[in-house]
Amino acid sequence: MSELGRELHANSLANKEEFWGEAAAKLSWSKPWDKVLDESKAPFYQWFAGAELNTCYNAVDRHVEAGLGEQIAIQYVSPVTDAEYGISYNELQAQVSRLAGYMQSVGVTKGDRVVIYMPMVPETAFAMLACARIGAIHSVVFGGFAANELATRIDDAKPKLILSASCGVEPSGIVEYKPLLDNALEQASHQVQECLILDRSQCHATLIEGRDKNWQQEVANSPSVGCVAVAATDPLYVLYTSGTTGQPKGVVRDNGGHAVALAWSMAHVYDIGQGDAFWAASDVGWVVGHSYIVYAPLIVGATTIMYEGKPVGTPDPGAFWNIISKYKVKSFFTAPTAIRAIKREDPEAKYAKATDLECLKNVFLAGERCDPDTLLWTQEMLQKPVIDHWWQTETGWPVAANLMGFDPVKIKPGSPAQPVPGYQVEVVDEMGEEVEANQSGNVVIKLPLPPGTLTTLWQNDKRYEDSYLSMYPGYYLTGDAGYMDEDGYLYIMSRIDDIINVAGHRLSTGRFEEVLCQHEDIAEVAVIGVSDKLKGQVPLGLVVLKVGATISEEQLHKELIALVRKEIGPVASFRLVSAIQKLPKTRSGKILRGTMRKIADNQSYKAPATIEDPQTLDLVKNTLTRMGYADALV
Ligand code: COA
Ligand code: AMP
Repeated sequence: MSELGRELHANSLANKEEFWGEAAAKLSWSKPWDKVLDESKAPFYQWFAGAELNTCYNAVDRHVEAGLGEQIAIQYVSPVTDAEYGISYNELQAQVSRLAGYMQSVGVTKGDRVVIYMPMVPETAFAMLACARIGAIHSVVFGGFAANELATRIDDAKPKLILSASCGVEPSGIVEYKPLLDNALEQASHQVQECLILDRSQCHATLIEGRDKNWQQEVANSPSVGCVAVAATDPLYVLYTSGTTGQPKGVVRDNGGHAVALAWSMAHVYDIGQGDAFWAASDVGWVVGHSYIVYAPLIVGATTIMYEGKPVGTPDPGAFWNIISKYKVKSFFTAPTAIRAIKREDPEAKYAKATDLECLKNVFLAGERCDPDTLLWTQEMLQKPVIDHWWQTETGWPVAANLMGFDPVKIKPGSPAQPVPGYQVEVVDEMGEEVEANQSGNVVIKLPLPPGTLTTLWQNDKRYEDSYLSMYPGYYLTGDAGYMDEDGYLYIMSRIDDIINVAGHRLSTGRFEEVLCQHEDIAEVAVIGVSDKLKGQVPLGLVVLKVGATISEEQLHKELIALVRKEIGPVASFRLVSAIQKLPKTRSGKILRGTMRKIADNQSYKAPATIEDPQTLDLVKNTLTRMGYADALV
């Protein structure tokens, strides 16, 4: 760590209240806090207890009041619909306050939940901000999830209102959202009085009389309303993320700590301030979209780029570079998988080299482990610092990163650099003892977590404690394994649970297994994440058929792929599945997924002493080879 960075980090831990109190002064509060950090309900820590503010006011209104109303707040670029326009802070305020007016008029008030199932259109950001404006709690569900996933989230969040759109537009075609929403509401036990549907010209939705309303008409006729002050500790949103079971975890984010942490990170990590252009090429359905497409850039008065398109094919692998150049993006954030997609189509980076990228200062990568090749290629082709940084839905903002707006340190490919101020990161063994430098272990963070991190799981304090706090008392379990080198650089190597990362999208193999088990011919399944050159990881399923099942391998393959797509959604990218006679298990019946993963990825492995039948490992090897997956195994 640089000397300055070391001091800042140490100070953030030794003087938490002063550190975050100072950071909080950059925001507008309607009531000051009684205490920066209230530890009285530990392990449920509260940041800025007693304070009141409004996140939408901080992201929108205060910039208008400061005379920045003409500045572009959201620059929308949608190559898939040929739309490209800017929305000023003035316009944003007008749109958001009318949408908030509509919400209030249908009875949505402070603390009510609103589910948002929408594509990458500015209205999705308006919807989130409108909820924040009136103290409602939004829960955005990623558009690539199927009806069943949406239904699970509706049942957990119990929204009063659902906001959706007629469709999303993917390169493969139009994805009609409305039938998915209707289907989800048929499956859900919880019902809503009202759904507001944005009508897009690419496809018109059929509205259900009495329940569904047309967005454009309703908002045009709604009054503008002001911001409602909420407690800093009140929830701003619930964002569901994959856990180890099929039931997703509803990560709860508060208002005060969130705004403070995001503002701090924009300046220190991303080197972005008022008037700069920032682009996080992700989706609003993920945490990256929540934090760095919507809230953080707006809170600091920057211009955020909102993009409905892909890194390649919309129209070509130069799409990112053209937008960066056109809108003078200073810091750009994407997932390594997107870079790999570009590299595959444009290995010499001809498009980037033909584009004026003078404006671009830093490229940030996160969402999955960044292999050194991808980082080095990007760095060489762009001639810019490429910053791997590590965080998760739960933390909401970076845990380890290079502080590009403060005092950058040397880049070590393969490492997301060092812990960010506020986070005391340790690598520990199974007993909770800190391991030595370069030794692998579980990556944990000492409590209290800094502001902006999850406060609990939605209406499930117990699951929060069980999932994250119980394994090592006094520490938060990240679920990631890795090591720290002698310079304090962290290396995040893998998950310790059943979570896989497919093209930067977090999915649970447990959920895949639940779905596959629904098939009538299946007795038992194991799903593992295996390496993929483009997507980092993809799911691979091995299934044992019931005795007497006569289904052909080809038919089984087709039906299982269709089943996963129907139940989880296209985002699952599920294509690799095969029948196997028997799964490798321990004598106590635990499926040896870890060993299977090693076989699939062609790593060295040892059959565990507790294995029930060592020959099952040969079965796995043969099946994978037959699937043409692990070619090196032949
Ligand atoms: N709504 C509906 N469907 C969606 C969707 C959305 N918002 N997002 C993705 N999908 C669909 C895709 O159309 C695709 O469907 P298909 O199987 O019918 O083609 C499927 O889900 C998988 O999508 P994706 O993971 O995007 O894979 P891809 O093969 O279409 O594209 C990449 C590959 C690498 C170009 C793409 O994954 C990418 O840009 N990744 C960046 C990841 C990212 O931003 N992650 C966020 C964390 S930072
Ligand atoms: P999500 O909650 O979807 O953001 O996924 C978080 C998980 O993605 C982390 O727990 C890691 O397993 C992985 N991840 C994210 N960023 C990185 C990174 N820079 N390096 C390694 N793994 C990462």
